[in-house]
Amino acid sequence: MRASHVAIIMDGNGRWAEGRGLPRLEGHRRGTEAARRIALAARDLGLRHLTLFAFSTENWKRPESEVRGLFSLMEQFFAAEAQKLADVGIRIRAIGSMERLSASAKHVIMEAQRITAHASDTVVNVAIDYGGRWDILQAARRLATEAAQGKLDPNGIDEELFASMLSTAGQPDPDLVIRTGGDMRLSNFLLWQSAYSELYVTPVLWPDFTPDHLKEALAEYSRRDRRFGALSGKSIGGEDR
Ligand code: FPP
Repeated sequence: MRASHVAIIMDGNGRWAEGRGLPRLEGHRRGTEAARRIALAARDLGLRHLTLFAFSTENWKRPESEVRGLFSLMEQFFAAEAQKLADVGIRIRAIGSMERLSASAKHVIMEAQRITAHASDTVVNVAIDYGGRWDILQAARRLATEAAQGKLDPNGIDEELFASMLSTAGQPDPDLVIRTGGDMRLSNFLLWQSAYSELYVTPVLWPDFTPDHLKEALAEYSRRDRRFGALSGKSIGGEDR
């Protein structure tokens, strides 16, 4: 089976830098280059959706200098790359709360979304100030508000309606979630959306992640037997039980 949506937890920038005696921010700078390279590769490989976890609701707890540096890198990235990405068919969408972002970060992100709005080969969701729990809560709040206003019968809330209130509304769930840097956790990424995603963890640190690593992950994905809670295609009919 071919993947249409790949989501990536881009971890290991800090370790990449520290291992070379460089400031952590240099790891994030190289991580931003990796994000650009992988967005282009995703498009070339025919992925329709790529979601990159750039900044979590928990990342605000990092030292202020690192947070400021990360946002400065992201702002530079969006300002410099949006038009080039649009030209090759990549649409940028930001997902996340974004309430706590500076006015200039919000402006650059809105501009990147506007500039790339008509590109239609690959949607790159950049998760900024994003948390899976935040996403579920904001959806629940919106549904509760509609119910309280009498516009919605609570019994009519099903998975489809709930998903339509999430920040990824209208997009398929990720087929594959990749985590670089070797840790085996979801870290509050797409909690609802990854219910049936295949997970792929690689020890490769994010700044070292190349299009070949992405191809390797996709090849591994294509060998997986996705059952979504049902029986394996192989075991139906009595073989291979
Ligand atoms: C985790 O590495 C990475 C982050 C918290 C930031 C990821 C952001 C980028 C790569 C920039 C993305 C930019 C765009 C435009 C999408 P870490 O610092 O937690 O690494 P460590 O676990 O080795 O300390």
